[in-house]
Amino acid sequence: MRILLLGSGGREHAFAWKISQSKQVEKLFIAPGNAGTENAGINIPISETDFDGLKRFTLDEKIDMVVVGPEKPLVEGVVDFFANDDELKSIPVIGPDKKGAMLEGSKQFSKNFMQKHNIPTARYLSVTQSNLDEGFAFLKELKAPYVLKADGLAAGKGVLILSEREEAENELKEMLQGKFGDASSTVVIEEYLSGIECSVFVMTDGSNYKILPVAKDYKRIGEHDTGLNTGGMGAVSPVPFANEVFMQKVEERIIKPTINGLLQDEINYKGFIFIGLMNVDGDPYVIEYNARMGDPETEAVMLRIKSDLVDLLQGVAEGNLNEKTLEIDKRSAVTIVLASGGYPESFEKGKEITGLNNAQENSVIFHAGTKKDGEKILTNGGRVLAVSSLGETKNDARLASLALAENIMFDKKYYRTDIGLDV
Ligand code: AMP
Ligand code: GLY
Repeated sequence: MRILLLGSGGREHAFAWKISQSKQVEKLFIAPGNAGTENAGINIPISETDFDGLKRFTLDEKIDMVVVGPEKPLVEGVVDFFANDDELKSIPVIGPDKKGAMLEGSKQFSKNFMQKHNIPTARYLSVTQSNLDEGFAFLKELKAPYVLKADGLAAGKGVLILSEREEAENELKEMLQGKFGDASSTVVIEEYLSGIECSVFVMTDGSNYKILPVAKDYKRIGEHDTGLNTGGMGAVSPVPFANEVFMQKVEERIIKPTINGLLQDEINYKGFIFIGLMNVDGDPYVIEYNARMGDPETEAVMLRIKSDLVDLLQGVAEGNLNEKTLEIDKRSAVTIVLASGGYPESFEKGKEITGLNNAQENSVIFHAGTKKDGEKILTNGGRVLAVSSLGETKNDARLASLALAENIMFDKKYYRTDIGLDV
């Protein structure tokens, strides 16, 4: 098979690493990829949202399957673009169509979906300028802290959690007036849920599904979850509190009604569903859906999938995922992100990275924000690398990733040492 993978982050390197291990793969291309994906396939300089460019490449290179990493091409309709093109429609694209991607692209859509299909989630109200008074009244009904979410994609910054009601009222007004541009012309006000979060990943062909290893990511920049939010500073899988009893509830109360809801609403969803869950005293509630895998969770999850990922992806494409097997490694995986000093605020790029050849057995160094300059590898983003290791215990995995993180060098390298310690 000839596969085209879209994206350029750590998640895509992890996908590329896993896909390239399949005996079924004749050639893997990554558009646009990074310095790490080049070790698993061939990078091509086409943006993941340049649909015409992707069409030409797909036809020229006789691509058999497209796998989509990030949400942007999904939300912009890459699945629909292929499905509606006579020359492309026979080529499967792994990911939901534009409507399915609204589970991630619109908070209002996803909350309405959950309400309609009785999926446990926080109480909420959608507010625009026209029902602002209702919004204020709803805030009065709720207890602090207050959760405000921009309806649309706001580069991960569209969720505010505020401790005072007055502050919440002011922020609500500012959001509706365009604080996050069009993304916040509708705002979802939510009841605050108190608990501990985890990420559940489901692969579906639209009616059958497989539950991938559960993970937890670490969003804050500082040790012990302090400081600013980031794209994710590390991940661990499995998550001890997501035990059999908890996962049984997740499957019955959330996964089955989600898949049935998609079928019932005639949403064409062949891809990954990322369910962000809050464990509230042992009961799962959906915080959000994403239409893709998580980053950096994928860098931990892929290490624990023993089966051929391409075989599973074919099951998604052909609608026979129930006939495929998913074998999961019982060991633990811990991923530590190496970031550029200053991230998530301002940071410098272009620093030379050394020590990339130190990975031992059971560890992989995934690239996130890197680029090649001749023989050198340079930093090219806030999150630079994701170091992942398997261990018999979570702590073994953590120590292996830490040892590797220490031995990779670049100017102003920063990472958290406490990934996985809290669970
Ligand atoms: P979201 O983009 O919806 O995942 O929200 C970003 C983050 O805000 C989540 O990962 C949670 O940590 C937090 N959050 C969102 N909604 C709630 C809620 N209803 N209660 C508590 N925390 C929340
Ligand atoms: N790790 C969270 C995300 O990918 O959105």
